[in-house]
Amino acid sequence: MTDTREITLTVNGTEHTIDVEPRRLLVHAIREELDLIGTHIGCDTGNCGACTVLKDGEPIKSCLMFATQADGSELTTVEKMEDLPEAGDDLHPLQEGFREEHGLQCGYCTPGMIMSGKALLDENPDPSEEEIREAISGNLCRCTGYQNIVRSIEYAAEELADEEVAAADGGVITGADGSTVAPPDHEADGGAKFDCGVENCCGGPAADRECGSDLGGESE
Ligand code: FES
Ligand code: FES
Repeated sequence: MTDTREITLTVNGTEHTIDVEPRRLLVHAIREELDLIGTHIGCDTGNCGACTVLKDGEPIKSCLMFATQADGSELTTVEKMEDLPEAGDDLHPLQEGFREEHGLQCGYCTPGMIMSGKALLDENPDPSEEEIREAISGNLCRCTGYQNIVRSIEYAAEELADEEVAAADGGVITGADGSTVAPPDHEADGGAKFDCGVENCCGGPAADRECGSDLGGESE
């Protein structure tokens, strides 16, 4: 009978208790026991970085660790990125950056690149090009030549900085021409705050108009 150990991993905020063989690599446990196949396996020997995840906030190559060694730890995988607060209702700025700056071709290295990028920006929100290159130096890409990956991470750093400025300004959004738009204040104008599910919901009917009236919709 195969010897197994019970371990507990908190992955993307959810606690999982699983039985694994002592020699089971963490990356295999993530992919096969937890079904999180966004984390890739490129080499299984610590060379390519495709298996990078965050363990207690630090980037690690999950093929270089037994699952039992991660017992009790908190892991973040690429699946969590679009659920993080900085992602808003869309993709995380890092994911957006890879899309906008063409930071991927086959995409095999991308989950690992994104997790290394996240670890960097968590620690250093305004990295230089050299610091970005250093942070992804353990991640190999056979397609892109790295230039666009660096740009993708720079894009994310700028987006995150803009989000922070907007949050500090109480949500004021600055347009490309420098003009600013304040967020609607529905409490001040007598409306209730809610989300009706319509894209770009106005946040609720104000005292002087009906829901949808400023979205081009028709009210009855
Ligand atoms: S699969 Fe882990 S470093 Fe390549
Ligand atoms: S995009 Fe193909 S390996 Fe990086």
